[in-house]
Amino acid sequence: MNGTTRGTWHAPGRVNLIGEHTDYNEGLVLPFALAQGITVEGERRDDGLLELHSGGQREAVELEGLAPGKVKGWAAYPAGVAGALAEAGYLVGGATLRFASDLPSGAGLSSSAALECATALALTDLYEVKADRRDLVRVAQRAENAYAGVPSGILDQSASLLCEADHALLLDCRSGMSSRVPLNLGDHRVLVIDTGVRHSLDDGRYAERRAECEEAARLLGVPALRDVKDLAGSLSLLVDPVLRRRVQHVVTENHRVEATVGLLRAGAVPEMGAMLTASHLSLRDLYQVSWPQADVAVEAAVKGGARGGRMIGGGFGGSVIVLAHRERLPAVRQAVDAAYAARSWRPPAYLEAVPSPGASRLS
Ligand code: GLA
Repeated sequence: MNGTTRGTWHAPGRVNLIGEHTDYNEGLVLPFALAQGITVEGERRDDGLLELHSGGQREAVELEGLAPGKVKGWAAYPAGVAGALAEAGYLVGGATLRFASDLPSGAGLSSSAALECATALALTDLYEVKADRRDLVRVAQRAENAYAGVPSGILDQSASLLCEADHALLLDCRSGMSSRVPLNLGDHRVLVIDTGVRHSLDDGRYAERRAECEEAARLLGVPALRDVKDLAGSLSLLVDPVLRRRVQHVVTENHRVEATVGLLRAGAVPEMGAMLTASHLSLRDLYQVSWPQADVAVEAAVKGGARGGRMIGGGFGGSVIVLAHRERLPAVRQAVDAAYAARSWRPPAYLEAVPSPGASRLS
């Protein structure tokens, strides 16, 4: 057989610099890939089975008759990718896939998207199927939505598959068009603070936000909240204060993405901090998806000298990012640790977010 019968692939997790809860409103996001992610060693097999190994667990899935709802638990993600590839007309067969991760799971860093994207690359490469990365983004999202039952948007899978080293990815979630934005942080760093609170996107609250946005768009007579141009006028048309808050967040968050790109292109890195904090306050007060540990971490980090910070991901748990001069990092961490200790919370975990390449084949 040829060299594609086995191989190793890596797909990264992500942080989203800014543009939260805008993806399913057909708006803008600005993620970058982390160095950490999921690695998969894969080998073709001809018995129509997908044998999946992770952290001492083994699952075997029959590819024939694979359909949404058939596979439960973590295996639903990679199995869902195989199912979604077949639905999209990509002919792949069985494989043994061994996953390893250096990404904390449930920390809001998209470990599930990394799992899907690593699987998608492995299966298409093993079966020499040529697939555009943008199609694989859709396949991975379909796996997550339909097979794993998590109603996420397109942000995480796009970040894992399309990001490039030293760049953020400006993605228009309506057109699917993306561009690279150089991420020259100079003496500044993006620090991830894993708040220690675990979250799940399928607990109903994420879906509730999506439904509220759809309802607001319907009432305003626009295809998606992306299309709201006259914010004040639109807010005056909405009676429900909750819907007004959601609209205000989504519309201003899209503007903050554009402003952040402008600042990055101008080399005004420290000034981005104010955008991050504004995003956090909007997610806390208007979109109402933050959680106490995130609020405390952002506030303490800023008091400790960070330029700004925000919760990332769907909310209700996971991580925060803060932007700080590298010399301020110890003071920032100390301030956050002290704020946690004052509340008798277990200390958070830290990780430096280094803008890294998207998913690739390693061998
Ligand atoms: C989660 C989802 C994404 C996106 C973010 C919020 O990470 O997976 O699609 O909606 O929440 O921006």
